[in-house]
Amino acid sequence: MQRIYLYISFVFFLLLHLSVHAQVRSEIDFNTNWKFYLGDDSTAKNVLYNDSKWRKLSLPHDWSIESDFIKDASATNQGGSLPGGIGWYRKTFTLPASAKDKNVSIEFDGVYKNSEVWINGYYLGKRPYGYVAFSYDLTQHLFPSPKKNVIVLKVDNSQQPDSRWYSGSGIYRNVKLVIKNKTSIAYLGTFITTEKVSDISAVVNLQLTIDIPIEIRQKLTAITTIYTKEGKVVGNERTSLPSMQDTPVTLAQRFLLKQPSLWSINKPSLYKAVTIIYQNNIVIDNRTTQFGVRYFNFDSENGFSLNGKSLKIHGVCMHHDLGALGAAFNITAAKRQLRILKEMGCNAIRFSHNPPASEMLDLCDQMGFLVIDEAFDMWQKRKNKFDYHLYFKEWHKKDIEAMVLRDRNHPSVIMWSIGNEIREQFDSTGTTITKELVSIVKDLDPTRPVTSALTETFSEKNFITKANALDVIGFNYKDYDYPELPKRFPGQKFIALETASALETRGVYEFPSDSIRIWPPNYKVQDTFSANKDLTCAAYDNTHAYWGNTHERSWLAVKNNQHIAGAFVWSGFDYLGEPMPYPKFPARSSYYGIIDLAGFPKDIYYMYQSEWTMKPVLHIFPHWNWKRGDTVDVWAYYNNADEVELFLNGRSAGARKKNDTTLHVIWRLPFQPGTLKAVSKKNGKIVLTKEIKTSGEAARIELVVDKKNLKADGKELSFITAKVLDKKGILVPTADNEIKFSITGNGTFAGSDNGYQADTVSLKNPKRKCWKGMALAIIQSTEKKGNITLTAISRGISSASVTIRNN
Ligand code: GAL
Repeated sequence: MQRIYLYISFVFFLLLHLSVHAQVRSEIDFNTNWKFYLGDDSTAKNVLYNDSKWRKLSLPHDWSIESDFIKDASATNQGGSLPGGIGWYRKTFTLPASAKDKNVSIEFDGVYKNSEVWINGYYLGKRPYGYVAFSYDLTQHLFPSPKKNVIVLKVDNSQQPDSRWYSGSGIYRNVKLVIKNKTSIAYLGTFITTEKVSDISAVVNLQLTIDIPIEIRQKLTAITTIYTKEGKVVGNERTSLPSMQDTPVTLAQRFLLKQPSLWSINKPSLYKAVTIIYQNNIVIDNRTTQFGVRYFNFDSENGFSLNGKSLKIHGVCMHHDLGALGAAFNITAAKRQLRILKEMGCNAIRFSHNPPASEMLDLCDQMGFLVIDEAFDMWQKRKNKFDYHLYFKEWHKKDIEAMVLRDRNHPSVIMWSIGNEIREQFDSTGTTITKELVSIVKDLDPTRPVTSALTETFSEKNFITKANALDVIGFNYKDYDYPELPKRFPGQKFIALETASALETRGVYEFPSDSIRIWPPNYKVQDTFSANKDLTCAAYDNTHAYWGNTHERSWLAVKNNQHIAGAFVWSGFDYLGEPMPYPKFPARSSYYGIIDLAGFPKDIYYMYQSEWTMKPVLHIFPHWNWKRGDTVDVWAYYNNADEVELFLNGRSAGARKKNDTTLHVIWRLPFQPGTLKAVSKKNGKIVLTKEIKTSGEAARIELVVDKKNLKADGKELSFITAKVLDKKGILVPTADNEIKFSITGNGTFAGSDNGYQADTVSLKNPKRKCWKGMALAIIQSTEKKGNITLTAISRGISSASVTIRNN
């Protein structure tokens, strides 16, 4: 009996404790019930403004992506051929009664750009840079429950061109309302570092910044408990603060972890530090900070190592758009991108050329990616008329601080980049600014190296490296210089922050495939780049921008130069904007991706997979629908085998082996319809077999769903691939049937795509032509539970439908 009593009182104590915690700080998802107006109306900042006719929407929101592609968009096709403009957002809300006497603030993870914010008619301020997080303290200007409050934002992305890629426009990342006690842990007020890390032990340092209103100044106690992912307590620390403190006050706690589970790319172990602040034994705040324990090193001769083990960085550069969703952040879409990259063997991302959404870094922590977090694409010298150079002088300190303060607890982040291909590398201002930026970063985070992506490989001409402030020198392209770098920059550490810039359209093949085409034409006498009428580039790895190289040669250069810590391929995915080598509309998205804008891998994906993973790979291309008598080049990427033998309709076309200078094998065959079969063998034993068959005419649609069960949260997405098949079920690789998607039930249509860089149909349109036999539909859950049915119809072929549960 007594035991039961003890048990009940323990549970009661626990519940009481938890509910006290739950009340002391609430972080409210503030994304729903916004009103939006596309256009300018400065009276909208007034509290009594009537917004009843405005559109109701949920954030994150990007208004640019909702438009059709526009031939004469002022952003140009480099900016994605979509409009900028001015937009206003309003949200009317009532505070919970529990907010009485509390501190209330709003946190924006990113608003593109030039946001201005008013609360109940009071002007809070402006934030020009669109890629950093910021917050405003609303406390002084709010009405308590049950009175209404109105928050208003003007977002101005009207001055174009302002970016070399698609930026998106609007409140395109998450927004939170934070209600906490006046004495509480400050915004971004926890900082965790680790030191003396080994398999045996690690020291964890936690720095806490606490806001204390002047009038309070009472004794505080901070207790932090460290938990493993499984919830086991592995550290505990109590610190008391005397009364009479300056505000904000910073305190430090130190923990010794025994046998820490180290964070790595294959086993991304995470810990939680749960801090509770007490004032006179009453809980007044709590905060959970996630962190990882790992150590790494860049070495001038041997490159990178993680937790003492040498690791070549297999990275890609990524812009922030999510294809058909535009810039509007969505965690399912971000996770899908990372999953596709992880499967390829990618272990690192350089978020170019700006900090990503904070949830993207959470995902990198959880999924095991190394990250380079980059602040700027330009400093004082412009790349576009209306880009950040206009704000750099006044804002750079605040903006780079915002990046470091928000992101410094992520174990995935291994390095800060102060800028990409900065023009000041060519004059002495580069030296001064580099010193300043590096010192701002180091003041806030002395634990991580700082780099910058440079193009000038001669030390005497590079004013950024002359500052002697970078820990690791990053170079973009110029792989022919890699062997020279140790001589030109003695003792320095190197990383290839951009490689390749090769150009491809998924599913496009031209013969012969073995001559290199460099864009722009006539860059070198032997160049053969010629524009295709349909604005495509062949998917054989043979076309690249003049500053880059083919994927194969770029990767081989990094692989064969041990002092280069790793490669960041430009780029992981195609992105909106920068459709080099077609400077004119309707080309409107990039050709650089290993994966197309819809998320469908191009053939080159398998070259990286064969090099970057241990799993057996055999990939052959092109498709097998040609004209009889055509001479077709067949390529294969493979690994874990000595050779690959190719058979056409059962007859051997010979076995091929890779050598030291190529990462593919090739056969040249006269086409005849039928079956192409490749067999990879090791020591005479078959490793893998792959077949490609000539398809007949388009007969039906097949829908392949990546997620059949969605959470009814109004956010989660399912990506559905529509394939056009012949009557035997073979993909028709040339099919361009228009598919009309429609949905019924509790879901919404979030976008469609096919990966073709010059498709002019809006990415929000449910009608989409297939590109090379495939198209993508994205559906989004609603908050109402029930089934969602997606139907795909196309004239002359059988339709298909699929049902997804919205739970
Ligand atoms: C680089 C630049 C990237 C991208 C790329 C395209 O020089 O840093 O942002 O423009 O070229 O090849």
